[in-house]
Amino acid sequence: MLKTHNDFEVSGPVVVVVLDGVGVGKHDAGDAVFHARTPTMDWLDDVALKTTLLAHGTHVGMPSDADMGNSEVGHNALGAGKIYDQGAKRVDVAIRTEVLFERGSDDSETFFEMVDHVTRSNGTLHLIGLLSDGNVHSHIDHVEAITTHAARLGIKRIRLHALLDGRDVDGQSAHRYIEKIEAHFEGLSGVDAKIASGGGRMLVTMDRYEAEWDMVERGWKAHVLGEGPAVGSALEAVNSARKENPDLNDQYIPPFVVHDSNGPVGTIEDGDAVLLFNFRGDRAIELSRAFEESDFDKFERHRVPDVFFVGMMQYDGDLGVPARSLVKPSKITSTMGELLASAGVKQLAVSETQKYGHVTYFWNGNRSEKFREDLEVYIEVPSDRVTFDQRPWMKAAEITDATIEALNPNSGIRFARVNYPNGDMVGHTGDFEAAVIAVEATDLCLKRLLAAVRKLNGVAIVTADHGNSDQMYQLDKNSEPIRDSQGRFVPMTAHTLNPVPLWIYAPGLDGLKVRELATRRLSNVAPTALYLLGLEPPEHMDDPLILKRSEA
Ligand code: 3PG
Ligand code: CO
Repeated sequence: MLKTHNDFEVSGPVVVVVLDGVGVGKHDAGDAVFHARTPTMDWLDDVALKTTLLAHGTHVGMPSDADMGNSEVGHNALGAGKIYDQGAKRVDVAIRTEVLFERGSDDSETFFEMVDHVTRSNGTLHLIGLLSDGNVHSHIDHVEAITTHAARLGIKRIRLHALLDGRDVDGQSAHRYIEKIEAHFEGLSGVDAKIASGGGRMLVTMDRYEAEWDMVERGWKAHVLGEGPAVGSALEAVNSARKENPDLNDQYIPPFVVHDSNGPVGTIEDGDAVLLFNFRGDRAIELSRAFEESDFDKFERHRVPDVFFVGMMQYDGDLGVPARSLVKPSKITSTMGELLASAGVKQLAVSETQKYGHVTYFWNGNRSEKFREDLEVYIEVPSDRVTFDQRPWMKAAEITDATIEALNPNSGIRFARVNYPNGDMVGHTGDFEAAVIAVEATDLCLKRLLAAVRKLNGVAIVTADHGNSDQMYQLDKNSEPIRDSQGRFVPMTAHTLNPVPLWIYAPGLDGLKVRELATRRLSNVAPTALYLLGLEPPEHMDDPLILKRSEA
C-alpha cells in the first residue's frame, strides 16, 4: 500500500508525456530532433528541471548494452519503476545455458511436448517469426539453436515462415539473414529444412493493437494455406521486389510463398507444430489468436489446421495468450498503475492505435486488462492506415485534444500518461524530412498540452522511451554519415542507443532539485511521478529523480 508524504501537494494532475522515439542525438546530419524547430522543447530547457535518461541495453533489462531500447522495454521500465529481465534476456539465457533443451528441466517441458508432438504425428515443425538479429521482437540465433536441437531430437521436417525486418536492423539486410539461415539448414544432417513463406513485417502477419487485421490475413494465407505470390526461393522474393523498387525497405516486401514443382513447399497441416518465435507480444498476439480462438471472426481463415501452437513467450498475462509458451516472462508486478488503482487514484492513458497498447498493456507490465475499471480511463485515437512518412503529424493534435478534454477539472484524474508516436513511427520509415516534421508536430502539440497542465496546476514529466528520430542516417566508424553509390545518405530506420530527454515542468513548485544518481534511467520516472503525487515511492522501485524535501 502506498504511503503519503507531506512535503507538498501538486493539486492538479501529474502527466507523463512520452515523446516516442525522440532521443538526444549527436547533433549530426541525421539528427532530425536537432534539426527540427522545437520552440517548446527549447523553452522547457529554460523553465523546467532538465536531465537525460538511459534507455537502452542493461538499463532496461536487455542482455547487453549493445542492445538498443524499444517501446516494450521502455514502457515496462517507465510503468514499473524497476528493471526486469526482458524477453530478449530470458530467452537468451534459456538457450545459452541450454535449460530449454534439457529433458526434465523446469524450463523445457513445452519444448519437449512440441518435439514429441511432431515426432508422434510424423509432422512438420513450423517456425514463424521475424528473421533478423534486431533483438526487439526476435533473434535469428534463437531460430538456429531451436532447429539444431529439434534436429538432434529426431525431427525430420522443418519449415520457416520468415518475416523480413528492415525496421530493427538495416533497411536492406533481409538477404543476409536468409542466406545465414539457409546455410544453417544445409548443415542440419538428415533434416529437410526450408523457408516456406514470408514477407515484409509491415505487410505480413505482424500487425499490432488490431490496427490492420488484413496484415495478419495475408500472413495466414501465405503461411498456413500456401496462397500468395509464388517464388522459387525467399531470396528470389527479395531480389524481385528490389528490382521493381531499388529503394524498397525490407519491411514492405510483399508476401511470398515458396513453391517447388509440386506447389507450395510448406503449408501448415493437421498434426504439425507451430512455434511463433517472436518473444515480444504486441505484434504476436493477433496471429496467436488466429491459431487458437475457436470463435475467431477477424477474417475468414478457410482452413484451420489442428496444430500444436506455441509462442516463444506468453504474450498477454491477463488473457493467457498463447496457451503454451517456451520461456516464462518476468512477472512484472506492483507497477505504478496497479499501485495507484489500489490506492484509489484515478488514471488516464492516451495514445493513437499504433502506441495505444504501449501506454496500457506495456505500461502495466504486459497486461491487457484494467486493474480497476472505475478508476482508469483509456483513450485510443484511431491511427491512419498509411506509412507515416506520408502523415508525419499523425494524430498528435487529436491525442492532445483528447487528453486536455479528459483532464477537465471535474474529471478527478490525478495521473496521466500520454504517448506521441511521431518520432518513432516516422523514424522507422527512414525519411529524414518527414522525421523533422514529426518532431515539429509533436513539439507544437506539447505546447498546448503543457499550457493545459499549467492551468490545472499540474506537473508534466516529459521524456521518451528510446531514441529513433535522433539518428536517421547510418554512420561509419568515425560517426560520419555513410553515402550510397549515388552520394545519398543511407537511411537508418531502427532505434538508437542514445539517451532520452527528461524535463520536469512543475510551475509553482519551487526548489525541486535533480537527485545525484550513478545512472539516471527510465525506471526512475514512476517513483518521481508518485512522489509528485504526494505519495512515497515504494521500496521495490528505483529512486525518484528529484530530491525529497527532507533530503534537499
Ligand atoms: C516495431 O514493432 O514497430 C519495432 O520493431 C519497434 O518499435 P517500438 O519498440 O517503438 O514499438
Ligand atoms: Co519503434
